[in-house]
Amino acid sequence: MPEYESVCRTTDIPEGEAKCFKIMGKLIGVYHLADGFYAIDDPCPHAGASLVHGCIEKDVIHCRIHHWGFGIKDGRCQEQNIPQHNVNTYEVRVRNEELSVSTTPS
Ligand code: FES
Repeated sequence: MPEYESVCRTTDIPEGEAKCFKIMGKLIGVYHLADGFYAIDDPCPHAGASLVHGCIEKDVIHCRIHHWGFGIKDGRCQEQNIPQHNVNTYEVRVRNEELSVSTTPS
């Protein structure tokens, strides 16, 4: 049974935006897409930039530094032949307008 850490209210992250939170010592980005909230590791596996400051296009976040893409729903690196750069995903729970993120990867 995963544990969850409360991070903010649902209204704190408008649709199409994201925010980064420190959860159990890890930086995790929480994204508000059209169909709900999703969370992935925030440091870009390429060179460490904060992914939440990138550009969201549908369900992909494009890093602002070298533009690598990562699936917001599945954490998959969109660049060819480098699956070792996938990022972890975390379950997001919504209860009474409050967002909580699993402290362990899915
Ligand atoms: S730091 Fe993200 S693509 Fe290079």
